[in-house]
Amino acid sequence: ILMGVIFVVAAYLIGNLNFAYIVVRYFKKEDVRNYGSGNAGTTNVLRVMGKNYALPVFILDALKGSLVIVAGRLLGLDAIYIILGGIAVVAGHNWPAFLQFRGGKGTATSLGVFLTYDWQVTLVAIIIGIIVLIVWKMVSLTSLVGMATLPILTIGFGRSIEEIIFAFVLFFFSFYQHRKNIGRIIQGRESKIGQKVKIK
Ligand code: G3P
Repeated sequence: ILMGVIFVVAAYLIGNLNFAYIVVRYFKKEDVRNYGSGNAGTTNVLRVMGKNYALPVFILDALKGSLVIVAGRLLGLDAIYIILGGIAVVAGHNWPAFLQFRGGKGTATSLGVFLTYDWQVTLVAIIIGIIVLIVWKMVSLTSLVGMATLPILTIGFGRSIEEIIFAFVLFFFSFYQHRKNIGRIIQGRESKIGQKVKIK
């Protein structure tokens, strides 16, 4: 149990490493949360810094999620701790204690977590997400639809009840973090991919 608890706490702390914040702080000496949508995530880095910065942010935020699942498996932890670790790393990304609890929306990190946990289900969700992105050009909608398909797919694929709950929790996190985006999508005011915001 002690090992499991340490693992979950460590996962939360790893989640605190918000690469959107780190990259913009390092290269521009600015807080990304003061620009664009105010979110510390890939999409906002794309908006304010461009794709050369956004792509590494996306990969690193996804890798930290992946790392937690890999570590949990290498340590031979029970599935419940691996799942709690996956939830904790996304929670650490979304609500980082070291960044006044204002982090990102968890799409990249959830993707890394779930792709490593169950690549088949996640691959289908990614394909659906890519289609949504091509058709509607809104990253927020893409994230939401992709995240919503995870619990549905885990049920469809006949996965364990723990895994279904795991997917639901990550979806609820994403839904809550995107609440302002949802309002904008409904009003037709959500920004489309490719729209830039100047930083200074
Ligand atoms: O995952 C974040 C993305 O879905 C939306 O980001 O900056 O447009 O609110 P943003």
